[in-house]
Order: sequence, then structure tokens, then C-alpha cells
Amino acid sequence: MRIPRSWLFVPGDSEKKLAKGPETGAHALIVDLEDAVAPSAKAEARRVTGEWLEAHKRQVTLRKQVHWVRINAVDTGLWRDDLAAVMPGAPEGIMVPKAQGPDQVRMIAAEIYELEQRHGIPNGQTRILPLVSETPRAALTIAAYAEAPMPRLAGLTWGAEDLGAELGAARKRDENGLWTDAFRYVRAQTLLVAHAAGVWAIDTLHADFRDEDGLRRAALAAKGDGFAGMLAIHPAQVPVINAAFAPSEAELAEAQAIVAAFAAAPDAGTLQLDGRMIDQPHLKQAKALLGIA
Ligand code: COA
Ligand code: MG
Repeated sequence: MRIPRSWLFVPGDSEKKLAKGPETGAHALIVDLEDAVAPSAKAEARRVTGEWLEAHKRQVTLRKQVHWVRINAVDTGLWRDDLAAVMPGAPEGIMVPKAQGPDQVRMIAAEIYELEQRHGIPNGQTRILPLVSETPRAALTIAAYAEAPMPRLAGLTWGAEDLGAELGAARKRDENGLWTDAFRYVRAQTLLVAHAAGVWAIDTLHADFRDEDGLRRAALAAKGDGFAGMLAIHPAQVPVINAAFAPSEAELAEAQAIVAAFAAAPDAGTLQLDGRMIDQPHLKQAKALLGIA
């Protein structure tokens, strides 16, 4: 399956924003039942989201856009009802906020298993994307996701807002606009652990949605660092993220040159290309870029 690069949050109680979702060009919509929805609107959001998912079930492949749902955290007691409401609409996957580690994710996976059976969804089809950094304790144990294989795990992503609040942090970025230490730590952990587990690393959102230059820098940094995609909160962020993650002409040309150089010298382990050393990791990366297994 194509990896979604742009992941747009859409509040699950907003029929207006849901209606706009398919036009945004986002590779994935994450219909949110959690922080974007007021406590008093949780039940209404479940109903609206459930109906919207059902109505758009068959159009997913046509639109090349997949539908995820962010349920409420396990300690809220809302998550089971959330899953029950949205699983009939066969979402591509479930985003788990404030995830406390693999055991908690496995518990959610067990519930999903039951609901897949009940609604005639192929076993294992529904993926899981946890937000792994939202409490200090969770942030310290991100590496646990690399230990046990979890077939439903699609990727790992992280968020700065809830962790920042827990830390009482008055700032998340320094005077140069770079993440401060705690956030840089969880971002690097998310990246490393996702790659160790063989799943997607998805970078967090750029909260200031009018700051297009800052978003472009963040998205290019995410791609450059090895993230597969990035979260978004506003439709205007989607084209910026899609463009940043698309391979450039120069990158494609270079990847083709590397593959061609090794094809021409099948027994070589290392070669030179325009005066630069290239070896097996370069070949692997070039093939990945070109989508050659
Ligand atoms: N998904 C779909 N449509 C969205 C959208 C989103 N996330 N955010 C904004 N839109 C729509 C608006 O409804 C508006 O539509 P219109 O032109 O038909 O009126 C248009 O895009 C422009 O929006 P704008 O006026 O610039 O912003 P806003 O004040 O309506 O909304 C936010 C600002 C932040 C409230 C909104 O972007 C939002 O709800 N984002 C997602 C929040 C969320 O899910 N958070 C949880 C994860 S942290
Ligand atoms: Mg949150």
C-alpha cells in the first residue's frame, strides 16, 4: 500500500469539515473523536463519524484517500464505545492517543479483532497508529514498541501538545525555532523505534497553520530525517506536506544513476558516482525511493 504522506485531522463532530476532507488532497484523514471534540459532544461525534465512514466506505480506493479514526484514550472509558461506533464503517486504521505502550495497544487490538469479526471485516485489516509521546512515562518507554511484533502496527507518531502540558513547558521550540530537548528526544525515539520495528515513522503537526514557510521547513526536515509522513490540522497544510515529501526530479535522477551504476557492475560492492563513494546503503535507499523492492 502507498504510504500516506499527509495525515489531516478532521474534528469528528463537524459535518462541514468532514464534507471538505475528500477535497483536501490529504492522503489520510484522521477523523478525531478525542481532543478536537468537547466532552459534551462525544456522543454526537461518534454518530456523525460513524455515518460519515459508512457513507464513504466504498469510495476510498477511488479517491486514493484512506480514513483513520482517533479514538479517545484508554483511561477515559470512552474508547470501547468509540470503536463500536466506527468499526462498521471499516476505517483503514485507528489512531490511539496517549498510548501507554504495547500492552495497551494490544488490548485495543483485541477489541478490534472482535469487531472485525462482527462486521465482516477481514481479520487484521484494521491498522493501529499510536501517539507514543503524550505523557512523560510513555515518552520514556517508546523503545518497547521495537521489542514485540505487532501485526496491526502501521507506524508510530508523536505529539508535542499533551507532553508540553504535562511538563509545564512554557516553550516547545528555542529561539531558532528548533524543538527543545524533551521534544527532540521523543521525535528521535519515534523515528528510530519505528524503523527498528519496520513500521512508518510519522512526524508531528506544525500547530501554527498560517505559517507556511515554517511548515515547509518542518516537512522537509521530516522527510530529510527519515519520516514517511506528517500530521496536519488544516487543509492549507496538505499541499505543502505533499510537495515536501514528493521526491524531487534531482533525487529521482540520482537514484536512477545509482541503480544503473550497480546494474552495470553487478559484482561491485562499492563504486563511485561523479566523484562520490556509493555502496550498498546508497543502493538500498535509491531502490526504496524508486519503489523497487
Ligand atoms: N478539515 C477539514 N476542513 C477544515 C479543517 C480540517 N481540519 N480545518 C479547516 N477546515 C475548513 C473550514 O471549515 C473552512 O471551510 P469553509 O471555507 O468552507 O468555511 C476552511 O477549511 C478554512 O478554514 P479556516 O477558516 O482557515 O479555519 P477555521 O477557523 O474554520 O478552523 C481550526 C481552524 C484549527 C479550528 C481547524 O483547522 C480544525 O478544526 N483543525 C483540526 C483540529 C483537530 O482535529 N485537532 C485535533 C488534532 S491536534
Ligand atoms: Mg492531544
